[in-house]
Amino acid sequence: MSTVIFSCSPRMNGNSAFCASLIRNAVQDSRIFFPCREFLQTCIACGFCDNKKGLCKFSLQEQDTVDKFYQELFQAEKAIFIAPIYFYHVPATFKAFLDRSQAWFALAQEQKPARNVCVDLILLGAREKGDKLFEGAKLSIRYALNSIGAKLEKSLCLYGLDKHDDLAGNFHKQKQVLDFIC
Ligand SMILES: Cc1cc2nc3c(=O)[nH]c(=O)nc-3n(C[C@H](O)[C@H](O)[C@H](O)COP(=O)(O)O)c2cc1C
Repeated sequence: MSTVIFSCSPRMNGNSAFCASLIRNAVQDSRIFFPCREFLQTCIACGFCDNKKGLCKFSLQEQDTVDKFYQELFQAEKAIFIAPIYFYHVPATFKAFLDRSQAWFALAQEQKPARNVCVDLILLGAREKGDKLFEGAKLSIRYALNSIGAKLEKSLCLYGLDKHDDLAGNFHKQKQVLDFIC
């Protein structure tokens, strides 16, 4: 089964990137993508995609990378999104990536390109506690996935990861990740 891992922090070599490598080493036929490290245009609600069956006008620009990542997602059987919390939500670049799922919003359910894709979600935050820490991110990701027809299966929320190497030094949390995935 092919698995795509989307590591969605703008920070290089941080906790999300470490988490992604950990999973790639544990899951056969898996690949990591970093959609938030590349140039992407934000949705401007121009309406171009309303009747274009998934085509965004920005995807016609050579330097825009969003479509390339979504196509990888559509072809996978399983996807794992990993993202940190920035002010109770996802980082702005990842939110911009999610907003671009609007290109497929108008399609009927049976035409959605990711209707066979199941997504697991791992969210990381620095705070040690907080009932609502992950709520905004979870809702946003769930509804962006609806737009492409993918299903959010399960999520793991990890508290207390702040410095870039906190996950690398925490074997208990690494085990939580591996137990969640396997
Ligand atoms: C701009 C910014 C906002 C943040 N906001 C929060 C927050 O609201 N709550 C929280 O627990 N951690 C917050 N953090 C901490 C990150 O979630 C934490 O450092 C995480 O481990 C980063 O993951 P990464 O190493 O994969 O980038 C914030 C970090 C940054 C840079």
